[in-house]
Amino acid sequence: MKIGILTSGGDAPGMNACLRAVVRTTIHYGHEAYGIYDGYKGLVENKIKQLDRNDVGQILNRGGTILGSSRLPSFKEKAVRQIAIDHLKTWGIEALVVIGGDGTYRGAMALSEMGLKVIAIPGTIDNDIASTEYTIGFFTALDTAIDAIDKLRDTSFSHQRCTVVEVMGRDCGDLSIYSGIACGAEIVITKETGFDPENVLMQVKKAEEMHKRHLIVVVAENITNVFELAENIGKHSHYTARATVLGYIQRGGQPSSYDRILASKMGVHAAELLIKGESGYAIYTKSMEIGHCPIAEALNAQDEVTDLYQYLNKLN
Ligand code: F6P
Repeated sequence: MKIGILTSGGDAPGMNACLRAVVRTTIHYGHEAYGIYDGYKGLVENKIKQLDRNDVGQILNRGGTILGSSRLPSFKEKAVRQIAIDHLKTWGIEALVVIGGDGTYRGAMALSEMGLKVIAIPGTIDNDIASTEYTIGFFTALDTAIDAIDKLRDTSFSHQRCTVVEVMGRDCGDLSIYSGIACGAEIVITKETGFDPENVLMQVKKAEEMHKRHLIVVVAENITNVFELAENIGKHSHYTARATVLGYIQRGGQPSSYDRILASKMGVHAAELLIKGESGYAIYTKSMEIGHCPIAEALNAQDEVTDLYQYLNKLN
């Protein structure tokens, strides 16, 4: 059996560990593994190469993805996907493992509906795939955000400032609320909390009344302009306020222990499913166990809001 593998969408620490697991498991069972470079775009452009076990050596601990990644909006078009499927046929590749986020899952679903055997693995720093408790890369990105916010805390305290920090996550507030709790933020603003500028100013006032020397406000991306928010807080309180956008630094770096193990287990599970003749599944983790559900179910799952939001005001 020939199994193809690609990474797609925003890269995430642990994607390489997962790639390694898929390739080595495939070879372990006597089959062939093929790397597809630069995501669905590379698939359409026929950028495919057979991988042996040494090709995925020395990558377990590396951030990013050695296969490269991309976003390809035109993959929504059936004609474009047909080109991809034709390339796979020419290579004799009958099954595909894709590692990525929401957009990658949609591509996987569409390919599966066209008859291709596909397994999707959740790899994104956003933790926005509802069918899985955690996605590969989330905890590493969280550690990066925590490290950065801890550093901001030092200077925030020294200068009695209100530090506004924007954290990634696309439309999901998990990176923000988890880092907010872990860094002792006074205020966390996400899609889940909603954003009311007056309410934020009230909370800043409360911090003033509590004689807080400084405060930290974590804001999820795509909510508001953090520079304008900081300016507004500066105007209406005694704190000087500064904004920092953490940005793409959150996507890079060595995967954490958790992400390496999660990625390895998910990769083995995915390859074994295909080898057993199963397909059309999305891999998930729940309470450290690995499982799978139909890709369609993964795409329709409703995200549960983490209970961490209930902890915030008791902790600050
Ligand atoms: O999905 C990961 C992510 O980093 C999001 O947090 C962010 O919104 C997006 O990707 C940025 O995408 P791009 O790399 O296309 O700018």
